Amino acid sequence: MSETHAAIKDQSATRSLLRLWPYVRPIRTRLFSAAFVAIVASCLGLVIPLVLKWIVDGPVAEHDPGGVWLGALYLLLLGLAEAALFGYRRWLVARPLARVEAEMRADLYRHVQRLPVSFHDRWASGQLLSRGTTDLMLLRMFLAFPLTFLVVNAVTILAGFAILLSQQWSLGLVLLVPVIPLVILCSLFETRYSLVARQAQDQVGDLTTVVEESVLGIRIIKGFGQHRSQALAFRELSRRLRGTELAKARLLAGLWGLITTIPELAIGAALVLGTVQVADGDLSAGTLVAFLSTALALRWPVESIGFLLAMSQESATATARFFEAMDAQEEAEAPGASTSHSSGELPPGAPQGAAPLEPLEPLEPPRGSAPGPASAAASPADRAPGALPPDPRSSNAGGAELLPAGAELGAVDQAAGIRFEGVTFRYPDAADGSAPVLSRIDLHIRPGETMALVGGTGSGKTTLTALVPRLHEVSGGRITLDGEDIAHMTRERLRGLVSVAFEEPTLFSTSVGDNVAMGGGSPDDLERALDIAQAQFVRRLPQGVDTQVGEQGLSLSGGQRQRLALARAVVGRPRFLILDDPLSALDVHTEALVEAALRRVLQDTTALVVAHRPSTVLLADRVALLSEGRITAVGTHQELLRSNAEYAWLMSGADDRHDEGEDGR
Ligand SMILES: Nc1ncnc2c1ncn2[C@@H]1O[C@H](COP(=O)(O)OP(=O)(O)OP(=O)(O)O)[C@@H](O)[C@H]1O
Ligand SMILES: [Mg+2]
Repeated sequence: MSETHAAIKDQSATRSLLRLWPYVRPIRTRLFSAAFVAIVASCLGLVIPLVLKWIVDGPVAEHDPGGVWLGALYLLLLGLAEAALFGYRRWLVARPLARVEAEMRADLYRHVQRLPVSFHDRWASGQLLSRGTTDLMLLRMFLAFPLTFLVVNAVTILAGFAILLSQQWSLGLVLLVPVIPLVILCSLFETRYSLVARQAQDQVGDLTTVVEESVLGIRIIKGFGQHRSQALAFRELSRRLRGTELAKARLLAGLWGLITTIPELAIGAALVLGTVQVADGDLSAGTLVAFLSTALALRWPVESIGFLLAMSQESATATARFFEAMDAQEEAEAPGASTSHSSGELPPGAPQGAAPLEPLEPLEPPRGSAPGPASAAASPADRAPGALPPDPRSSNAGGAELLPAGAELGAVDQAAGIRFEGVTFRYPDAADGSAPVLSRIDLHIRPGETMALVGGTGSGKTTLTALVPRLHEVSGGRITLDGEDIAHMTRERLRGLVSVAFEEPTLFSTSVGDNVAMGGGSPDDLERALDIAQAQFVRRLPQGVDTQVGEQGLSLSGGQRQRLALARAVVGRPRFLILDDPLSALDVHTEALVEAALRRVLQDTTALVVAHRPSTVLLADRVALLSEGRITAVGTHQELLRSNAEYAWLMSGADDRHDEGEDGR
């Protein structure tokens, strides 16, 4: 995600980390007590030099072995207390922090599930994966160590310096001098480190994407003998990541080197000065011992600041990356979106457009015709130029009995079914000024009717079908189901009404039965759906419907997967059925069987079926021809064959498309 680099650059680390507060809030008491315990433990460590001073100036100077033993006992007790307190701190935070991590991960997953399809079109899956794994792990570690220890160490250093200055202020000042260059150094380091840290985390995301894609696409990679080039690509990415990690290490090593050398030099200087003072009799030996051991005890808090800062910096970028995904807009429900089925139950705020009985005014009348609102479904209202008038014998072959006679059709029936009204669509990430994928689509699929959607490859058929379950939002115009604008329905309800089977049948790593049952329905429906989809092969699988399928269903054949996807689409007896070329992977005989069964299902639903082959088209009552983003003709198969050259060409070439290719047009 290179475009995100720039945006993040100037975001301060603290500001990023502050966004973690809502997650940390519930465990703040624990965290604060843990920090307090750590401060006490750390300051106990500073008492040790004072006991040493007492031993040297007291029992040692007075040659009193009993006093020395007593002093040793004190030291032991202090050490034990310090260790116990640090252990207690660990125990205090371990469990709550694991919970914070789990909560953030759950939140991310939930959010990602609700993000619109257009988000997933844009984002590489590996980038999401690395955010949910490495980044969150970094954050947990940050909350466990750097967050606490930056505070603990700061307090310890302050307390230590207070002790040092009170022991012998001139020596204390010698040690204080290096603080200034250290502070400057750390801030310089922070800015440079944050850039490489971000780069490294993004590169981990890229690497994850390559691994994921190559695992999912392993058949293609092997089939085309691409494993070597894939390995090269991987090696190149990991080489780059290694370079970034090395740059990180170099920065850290430089900082660490200076952070250890400078205080060490100061301690050396203090040692020389102190020894001179002891020789001159200005300082007791015990004070010098105490002074130096305090200085040495402070070495760790000072030195650790380097890597604590580095870890904080990485956590800040991890937080920023986490919230980049979390900040992406979820699919919003329209205000007052209706969840009820009848207009009478509409919530007060619901837009009137949602009322099914409202007479419909097409937003943009189709070219070449001027339909009145009362024109019946059989009128040219939904007919594009070039389409023939309906042929009473051949149209509605399958669903004719479901349609009331034309004379009885009123506004209600005109609204019923699926209506596209002046629908325009362009992909959100399409280049500015590019033509929309779909423009001014006016189409009416009458209740109970099956409409086939035919068009050349890339003409926008899949895009059109994806608009009905609102996988993408229309850019203009509207789509209504039985007169109700889908933009005013909750997605949950809409997706309960509409069932889909896509071109690429995707299955999940669970049992065959669960995969199909995703579409709803009861166990009886499952059997029925399997019959309709001619998926009897399921019963011959080792555990029947309980057989587990591999990742993405790759353990099944393409046709088997397609039939399961079809079963999933029909199992819930949906009111509206959208099938995107559902029979493409079946052999002619299976196709005929599925078609026969499907014909029965299509009788009681309103369906839009993308079709490439004449055999599939024959399932439909009418056909709509999509050409360059517009519906250019609507009519029965026979009508269009006779009247529309493009349609005739598409259908004639359909069986030997591979020979003709696209330029045969
Ligand atoms: N997520 C996307 N972002 C941007 N453009 C897209 C996206 N998906 C498809 N397109 C473009 O939209 C156009 C229509 O694609 P669509 O998948 O709807 O065609 P189709 O009619 O289903 O073709 P086919 O018969 O090959 O399945 C194509 O030019 C395609 O490049
Ligand atoms: Mg398609």
